[in-house]
Amino acid sequence: MRNQFLSQRKKMVVGDPMTDELWDSYLPKKFQLLSPYQWTPISVIERTWNYLSKDKVTSVVDLGSGVGKFCIYLSKVSNHSIDILGIENREELLKISESLKEIWNTPDVNFKNTDFLNEFPTGHSHYFCFNPLYETMKGSHSIDSSKKKSAHQFLKDLEILKQKLFLLSPGTKLITFHGFGGSYLPGFRIILKEEINSGEYLIWERE
Ligand SMILES: C[S@@+](CC[C@H](N)C(=O)[O-])C[C@H]1O[C@@H](n2cnc3c(N)ncnc32)[C@H](O)[C@@H]1O
Repeated sequence: MRNQFLSQRKKMVVGDPMTDELWDSYLPKKFQLLSPYQWTPISVIERTWNYLSKDKVTSVVDLGSGVGKFCIYLSKVSNHSIDILGIENREELLKISESLKEIWNTPDVNFKNTDFLNEFPTGHSHYFCFNPLYETMKGSHSIDSSKKKSAHQFLKDLEILKQKLFLLSPGTKLITFHGFGGSYLPGFRIILKEEINSGEYLIWERE
């Protein structure tokens, strides 16, 4: 795994700003190509930290953490000051996240290989998601072919996610990039709406 990264990585220069090109160059090639469609852009993570640094944060969870880009870079920009957990149900992506933790020196980020619809992580102050359920809808740039495309499955999963989020405590925030799958989230109000990198960025608060 590490050799794959070493042969393709760009040179890191201390003090230079982080870019998607640099961060993604540490990924295996096939996951570099998916980055514009599947992994959160650096600008979105920096915007998230800008928001979190002024909010009361106990811990942040990425629901569907992919190759760990959101969690690992958030840990770096926050100078390891917050608890961060990534939940990912593809084992291959979880292994990559663990390797990247070493490369980016963020040992305190935690990753868990579970399905958040079955084992929803409760009790955190902030949740993040980059439309994790949408992959069961028809479309291009899929991560792999392991999940059946089914609009029925998508709607079923969306209902489960909404129910889990509804059970969160008042004041809990959900940050979405390209949405969570629906347009209305029972029990939540939108407190921030922006467009970043041509994607809708919203912050929802449990009422
Ligand atoms: C669009 S990617 C976003 C990855 C990451 N959050 C980021 O922003 O870089 C969505 C991820 O959610 C994962 N995912 C989808 N449904 C999931 C579920 N029920 N439980 C855990 N992970 C899930 C997918 O495998 C994929 O890696």
